[in-house]
Amino acid sequence: MSEKSEKVIELTDIQKSFGKGRAKVEVLRGIDISVAAGEMLMIEGPSGCGKTTLLSILSGTLKPDSGKVVVLDNEITSSTNRGLAKFRAHHLGFAFQLFNLIPSISIWENVSVPLLIQGVKGRDAKKRAINILAEVGLDDRANLLPNRLSGGQQQRVAIARALVHEPEIIICDEPTSALDGATGEHIMTILRKLTSEKNATVVIVTHDPRIHHFADRIVHMEDGKILGSSLR
Ligand SMILES: Nc1ncnc2c1ncn2[C@@H]1O[C@H](COP(=O)(O)OP(=O)(O)OP(=O)(O)O)[C@@H](O)[C@H]1O
Ligand SMILES: [Mg+2]
Repeated sequence: MSEKSEKVIELTDIQKSFGKGRAKVEVLRGIDISVAAGEMLMIEGPSGCGKTTLLSILSGTLKPDSGKVVVLDNEITSSTNRGLAKFRAHHLGFAFQLFNLIPSISIWENVSVPLLIQGVKGRDAKKRAINILAEVGLDDRANLLPNRLSGGQQQRVAIARALVHEPEIIICDEPTSALDGATGEHIMTILRKLTSEKNATVVIVTHDPRIHHFADRIVHMEDGKILGSSLR
């Protein structure tokens, strides 16, 4: 089997609902997805169709009601919380839709969090954080607090934090929503390079047609189901 066809993410018949009784909302209604090493998969679909919920499940931060999630040969649906936190810290990078930066610490400290969790020591962690900030064009802002940055700059900090520990799997929820066209292209070029040069696997939820040409495959979701996919 070639390296390219190795499955790093496999979701089987994922179901998830929120609420109970008459207030119950079925958000994911039988999702099957697999993603290969080195692949860039994009997921698109209307607001509220379940995209962020799906990303939370595939990154192990949310448990499905039923179905199986296998990531890098680990069945994360049956992992303990502690085991899962460690697994995530080592293998996954996640850029959230709402950025989720820690407001009370500087930009570089925010970016260094995944490294500290891995046990990388202070000076090394700072150096690596500043290097990745330079790649997204923000090393000159490294000492500022998040609220001193524009929305697009905060978004790039969130992406830098997802990449700093060089995870095998990178998950981005609307990574270009606050970026202008040129900056969005630059960020996507960085992500694309990680897939081709490091065989990283990238899963991106996006409404942004400007970045579709970067994808290997685009999956279309509606109302908690996958309606189809197109290869690029
Ligand atoms: N923790 C929760 N409790 C209750 N309902 C939730 C919860 N999380 C999500 N939902 C509901 O699940 C549905 C899907 O939400 P989700 O955030 O996955 O949508 P989305 O496709 O990412 O939308 P958007 O494009 O607007 O970000 C929505 O109807 C939302 O209200
Ligand atoms: Mg969402």
